[in-house]
Amino acid sequence: MNSNIVWHQATVTRQRREAMNGHKSFILWFTGLSGAGKSTLAHRVEDMLYDLGCRTYVFDGDNVRHGLCSDLGFSIEHRSENIRRIGEMSKLFVDAGVIALTAFISPFRHDRDLVRSLAAEGDFIEIYCNTPLDVCEQRDVKGLYQRARRGEIPEFTGISSPYEEPLNPELTVMTGAQDLDSCAMQVLEYLNRQGKISLTNQRSQ
Ligand code: ADX
Repeated sequence: MNSNIVWHQATVTRQRREAMNGHKSFILWFTGLSGAGKSTLAHRVEDMLYDLGCRTYVFDGDNVRHGLCSDLGFSIEHRSENIRRIGEMSKLFVDAGVIALTAFISPFRHDRDLVRSLAAEGDFIEIYCNTPLDVCEQRDVKGLYQRARRGEIPEFTGISSPYEEPLNPELTVMTGAQDLDSCAMQVLEYLNRQGKISLTNQRSQ
């Protein structure tokens, strides 16, 4: 980093934004195999948080790779850079008082741990979407597993590139076995227990 760059301290701080919003900001980091249900769950949780009056934004792997990370592929180095950028972006959103929900495979522990280390204590909530490979492969919503098995997609997570399960996630959700709303409620109840949101706060409009 250039040593001539100086951080500018805003007068509208995160604390003031949180006070205005009436809720804390933090990162909900959904991780799991392709097809595990990360994006679906992140969007369902976002719907529920919206109904509680929370400011939210979902970053989705496929979408972000169309823009911010369109220069990146799926090598170990590129995946690390993908996750680093999303981590930095999520941190800015937290500073802006927003609840950032991210849905990336993020298969490598050291990448997820890097994002955890970027965030302040308690701001990074790792949610393991635990859908077994055989279930993801059976669903094969995008037809990618079939293509990966045929050798048409190199370094495909779960087939020819590893997925490192979280060792100590804040929450594990059995996205392959339980229905969407019950998985989403587990996330909401966790946040309620941690004092991050209040499930009794209803949207006023
Ligand atoms: S990550 O590994 O860098 O976290 P990310 O979540 O952004 O991955 O993108 C994953 C999505 O890209 C998958 O859901 C799938 O649709 C698509 N994809 C294309 N090629 C691959 C690949 N080699 N491995 C995994 N996913 C891939």
